[in-house]
Formats: sequence, structure tokens, C-alpha cells
Amino acid sequence: MVDTRRLEQLMRASQGEGRALRRAPRPAAGAIIRAPAHGARSNARAEEVHHAWSLLSPAAPLPPADAPRRRRDALILPPPEVSASFDLLRVQLLQASRTRGWHVMGVTAPSPGCGASFVTACLSSSLARLDNVRTIVLDMDLTRPTLAQAFSTAAPGVITDMFDGHVPVEGHLRRLGENLALGLTLPCPEGGGTMSQSNAIAETLVELEQDYHPDLILCDLPPLLTSDTALALLPHLAGVLIVADGTRTQASDLQECERLLQDRTQLLGVVLNKGSDTDAGRRRLR
Ligand SMILES: Nc1ncnc2c1ncn2[C@@H]1O[C@H](COP(=O)(O)OP(=O)(O)OP(=O)(O)O)[C@@H](O)[C@H]1O
Ligand SMILES: [Mg+2]
Repeated sequence: MVDTRRLEQLMRASQGEGRALRRAPRPAAGAIIRAPAHGARSNARAEEVHHAWSLLSPAAPLPPADAPRRRRDALILPPPEVSASFDLLRVQLLQASRTRGWHVMGVTAPSPGCGASFVTACLSSSLARLDNVRTIVLDMDLTRPTLAQAFSTAAPGVITDMFDGHVPVEGHLRRLGENLALGLTLPCPEGGGTMSQSNAIAETLVELEQDYHPDLILCDLPPLLTSDTALALLPHLAGVLIVADGTRTQASDLQECERLLQDRTQLLGVVLNKGSDTDAGRRRLR
């Protein structure tokens, strides 16, 4: 289901075997450095981050009628064979995060309905099952946000208020369990302007990294071939995963996505979703 060859190539390149990478790791201010847990300074920093997470409001449960089968703190658990693919992807993204300093990553698709939000939610849940990993997931699809529903909770408002500074980060994020923070949004199609303002996005991402020290910030993006917002956000991301719908995405769609990514960010890999293991699906995408 998950083709991580691109990510592996990038990782090899980072070890000096491949071509030079275009993007340098984020500046030190935003970089996560896993300092050994000894020394008063690192202990104080760890306390600070722990405190910041503890102050986040828990995600409110939906009324039972709206979420009949989900517990309030339930993470998404796909079937075992699918879950194994997400766990593999999780390992590789964490490796990229720790060795390259790539913390902000996006998930997108060529066209609507391929499963980008599904993959974002499952991957976030997979990450959240690791006690020592902190993840922030941001719903950047202002037109059709779906992550709140995926996590059986409600968005507290529009995410553009957090980016614009109208609402503090800690007032917008919601905590699910101990180590997953949700940056959800209500639909806000008119918010595209904010998403194109690179300062608002960049400053918020730095703030998130500094205050919450996440291993990963995962951004659920709108489809790349149909959304200017997705395109505008690419330069803020260390890399993106592209989710292909194994039943209908064409190789030409993926080539067009790759073209759009050039000089904006790295393609980390292609996730072949839905009908993933059919020969027909694989042939179409070759
Ligand atoms: N592998 C899967 N197994 C089961 N259901 C899936 C799978 N992938 C996607 N879906 C379902 O298909 C629908 C579309 O998926 P999703 O919303 O993730 O697509 P998307 O690429 O984010 O679309 P959009 O462009 O509208 O944001 C959702 O109802 C989702 O739950
Ligand atoms: Mg989506």
C-alpha cells in the first residue's frame, strides 16, 4: 500500500550517497534536537513542553448520536494489514524527522476523494500510539475539512484564526490522549488568503515547533491538482506524501503532481490507497 522508495532515496541522499538535497533542514530556532535527558537545562525544557501539552484542552466528544461507535479518546484503528502499512510509514517519517530535521510534512492527493484525509488520520493515530512521540495534525483543507469527523470530535473554530493570531495556538489546538494535538477547522472557503500569507503560516509553524516540540506536524492538504491553497502551502513543508486512489488515479496525475512539487518541496512517497494491491492499479500508475 505504501511506496516509500522515494523517502528511502532521500534518506540515502542525506547520508551522502545521493544528489544534494534542495532544502536545508529548518533553522535552529524551529529544529527539534533530541538532547540527552540529562542536565538541568534539558530537564527544564522537557518540563516546559510537557506543561504546554498538559494545558491543551482535551478534544470534546461528539454527542453519542453523531458518533455512536467511537469512544471519545479512540484513535483510528484500521484493519491489521492496513495498520501495518501505516506503522511502516510511521517509522520512515520519524527517521526523516530525527535525522534530517524534517518535522512539517503534508499529505495530499491529485484529486478529491483519493483518501488524503483518511491517510492523515490513520497515520496520526499510528504515531499517537507511540508514547514517546508527539504529533500535531493540522486540517488545512478549508473547503472540505474532514479530520474532526475522522476523530469523532468537533472543530473549535476556523484554523485561519489561529494562523492570523486572532486565537492563540493553545486556544485552538485540542489534545487527543497525551501526545496527539488536533488543529481542526470548520469549513472556511474564504480563508484561502490567509493560507497564501507565508508569514502567518511560517510564524505559526515555528511557534508550534518551539512550544510543543512535536516530532511531526502533519498537514492534511486539499487536492494538489485542484487547489491553489495546497500549492501555496508546499514551500512551508519539508516534504509531502501523495495519496493515489488505486482505482482511478492515473500515472499522468502523479507526474503532474511531481511537476508542481518541484522547487517547492520534496516528494516523500506515494501511498497507493483503495484497491492497493490490484495489478490493474499498479499498472495504471506506472
Ligand atoms: N483505504 C480506505 N478504506 C476505507 N475508506 C476509505 C479509504 N480511503 C478513503 N476512504 C474513505 O473515502 C472517502 C474519501 O476519503 P478522504 O476524505 O480521505 O479523501 P480526500 O483525498 O481527503 O478527499 P478530499 O479531497 O475531499 O479532501 C472518505 O469517506 C474516507 O473515509
Ligand atoms: Mg481530505
